[in-house]
Amino acid sequence: MKALVLAGGSGTRLRPLTHSSAKQLVPVANKPVLFYGLESIAEAGITEVGLIVNPEAQEIRAAVGDGERFSLNVTYLVQEAPLGLAHAVRVARDFLGDDDFVMYLGDNFVVSGITDLVDAFRAERPDAGILLTKVSDPTAFGVAELNTEGHVVALEEKPAHPRSDLALVGVYLFTPAVHEAVAAITPSARGELEITDALQWLIDHGRTVRSTHITGYWKDTGNASDMLEVNRSVLDTLAARVEGTVDAASELIGPVVVEAGAMVIRSRVEGPVAIGAGTVVQDSRIGPHTSIGPACTVADSSIRYSIVLNNARIEGAGPLCSCLIGRYATVAPAATAPHCLILGDHSEVWLSP
Ligand code: G1P
Repeated sequence: MKALVLAGGSGTRLRPLTHSSAKQLVPVANKPVLFYGLESIAEAGITEVGLIVNPEAQEIRAAVGDGERFSLNVTYLVQEAPLGLAHAVRVARDFLGDDDFVMYLGDNFVVSGITDLVDAFRAERPDAGILLTKVSDPTAFGVAELNTEGHVVALEEKPAHPRSDLALVGVYLFTPAVHEAVAAITPSARGELEITDALQWLIDHGRTVRSTHITGYWKDTGNASDMLEVNRSVLDTLAARVEGTVDAASELIGPVVVEAGAMVIRSRVEGPVAIGAGTVVQDSRIGPHTSIGPACTVADSSIRYSIVLNNARIEGAGPLCSCLIGRYATVAPAATAPHCLILGDHSEVWLSP
């Protein structure tokens, strides 16, 4: 069995943290969301991965490399334009050969991994397997309609009037039967070859499409509170590890990760907290449920239940709570009034009255 991981896309859906970076590299507990997917593929016993990227995917290539660090053998497959998920399967046709494969959208996060799902698929081998999860806004997803026996009867992509609240999770299991389906379908109204249409084609042609319901699913839809929650739940599984330095005047409580080159000075860190490589935390209170990316400075500040991306600087600020702070952002008091704010597109600032 192989894996086809999609990390292309046009990047036109601008989210607070993906203006300047691929959405597959959004960090959850200081690790890119894509890495969790690659790790769960390796855990499921798959080694051959085709990684679909767009032609300018330097950032993804730099992050993943040849896959060795995940015990995977990664082959890059370039999708010249974002023409849809089923188009990506067409691009990967030669790579996939006649093997079964799991297709994994690189910006999706399945908390419990995919090992059980892959094992069940291998044992039963329906023509295709899909995962469904209840979501509050089905219009943003592919949506499944089930009959009274719980079998999938219809699938619709981003419906204006969803027939259920069961969304298609971006993890699909396929036998080579899917190649006939992706060859047969035509572009949707948004001009893409939809995998949802390929699945519908399989159903219409009497093939078995097995569905499994899951919980513990997350995808960045631009909702900050969802992102903070997934960060919290992953931090809750953190094991303490200190590779940087912590001075005698500091206190680490509970699971705290201090990466190599990071320094904690005269500070109190209440885990679960992840502090990235090279970050300096000084005279501050951090946590719980906070991840601070690499190369940040946090001084004379207090921050909890937050996500801070690399190279941010927080000085003399706080108490901060429920914050998403982007790369190279600065949070600091103004030396003189009036206060000055320089905010990127789609930024949000909540000031106390
Ligand atoms: C794609 C699929 C959709 C699925 C979603 C999950 O949508 O077309 O059916 O629910 O992934 O991430 P996209 O996010 O590419 O618009």
